[in-house]
This record gives sequence, C-alpha cells and structure tokens, in this order.
Amino acid sequence: MTGWVDIGGAAELESTSRLEADVDGYRVRVARVGGRLYAFEDRCTHDDSPFDDAPIEGCEIICPRHGARFSLQSGEALSPPAYEPLRIFEVSEEDGRIRVRV
Ligand code: FES
Repeated sequence: MTGWVDIGGAAELESTSRLEADVDGYRVRVARVGGRLYAFEDRCTHDDSPFDDAPIEGCEIICPRHGARFSLQSGEALSPPAYEPLRIFEVSEEDGRIRVRV
C-alpha cells in the first residue's frame, strides 16, 4: 500500500472535470459528481480499456465501449458485459489539493 498521494489541484479537476495519475501501478481517475469526489481505477473490468470520455450519470460510470455500468460508490458492476467490480480508492481534498490512497 502506497498511502496518500497528491495527484493534482482542485482547480485542475474543475477545469477538466477529471484528474488522472499513475499511482503504485494503477491508473487512478478522480471525478467530482454532485460535489462529491470519487476515485477509481481507469480500467473497465470487461476488457481492461480506459474509460476515456465515459459519461457519468448519477453515481454510475458507463463504459463507452460496450455499455457496462459501474457504481462509483462501491465499484460494483451493475450491468453486463462487465461482472468484476471496479477498483475504488479513498480520496480527499485539502487546501485545494486532491489526494488518493492506493
Ligand atoms: S470494455 Fe467496458 S464494457 Fe467492454
């Protein structure tokens, strides 16, 4: 376990709507939805593809390749063709910086 890692500024997250960083072998992505931060591995468990510009509806991300949906809260795969959960990370915001724990 790496511990908490600073992956960028909150201002950058607001302007790009997401932050991404390689942390301890994982491609970690952070998104803010309804004022809450979610951090998850940027890899669909169906085909190991990045989510790229995947839409987020409510607290669910929808893979643009084959339409699998995942809960950003629990990581649960909510619809086929994905069945394995998405890896979720703790995330925090302090003094304008975003940190994740991997
Ligand atoms: S790669 Fe995501 S649903 Fe197939």
